[in-house]
Amino acid sequence: MTPDIIIAPSILAADFANLAAEAEAVEGAADWLHVDVMDNHFVPNLTIGPPVVESLRRATGIPFDCHLMIEDPKRWAPAYAQLGACNVTFHAEACDDPVALAKDLRAAGTLAGLAVDRDTPIEPYLELLPHFDTILVMTIKAGFGGQAFMPELLAKVRAARRHAKAGHLDIRIEVDGGIAADTIEAAALAGADAFVAGTAVYGAHDPAEACRKLRALAQAAVARQTTSDSGGTTV
Ligand code: DX5
Ligand code: ZN
Repeated sequence: MTPDIIIAPSILAADFANLAAEAEAVEGAADWLHVDVMDNHFVPNLTIGPPVVESLRRATGIPFDCHLMIEDPKRWAPAYAQLGACNVTFHAEACDDPVALAKDLRAAGTLAGLAVDRDTPIEPYLELLPHFDTILVMTIKAGFGGQAFMPELLAKVRAARRHAKAGHLDIRIEVDGGIAADTIEAAALAGADAFVAGTAVYGAHDPAEACRKLRALAQAAVARQTTSDSGGTTV
């Protein structure tokens, strides 16, 4: 069954010397493991690539959500699909033909995701959404964990949700950056249904409990919204 809400801890905030244990720490509480791939060109930071993803895949059963912050995703993205990622997201700013790459990713057996960074408007990409399974709206500037959530970027989430509703699209709307107990409700109310959280999960004493808490907050916000949309509760 597809969960109503996806919680995706980002291993960017985990201990890179103990990735297998860090993945295990959220088993049963996380839906996806968010893997931030950075190339020091598209963003000024450098993380991991296919060999680490390949090894970590063998160490955990949690589906991988690979977020490629790299130049030339056409060249590299299909490798992550072949390594068994469940979702592969590349940036709109780095790709001339997002629809062609989405087709390649789907053909390679993964969900296809499109990401828009802080300074990229979402409107030019709304028409492409039928070709994608996820749209990732950055709620910070891509590149580093631990930054402050930017609530003004939720306008893009609302636009994507309106567009998805109007077109009856089956698409996940994912938010990434500064998602924590004090921001996840606003993101859920704006229409997000997949939540990346690095610091809020791996900075917590109990990462699995942090995932459960985030999920409960998002679910409660959506439930309250549904109740008020339908005219309030009856006694
Ligand atoms: C940053 C990455 C995020 C990052 C989020 O560019 O895409 O996934 O890990 O970290 P937090 O949740 O700490 O903002
Ligand atoms: Zn990310």
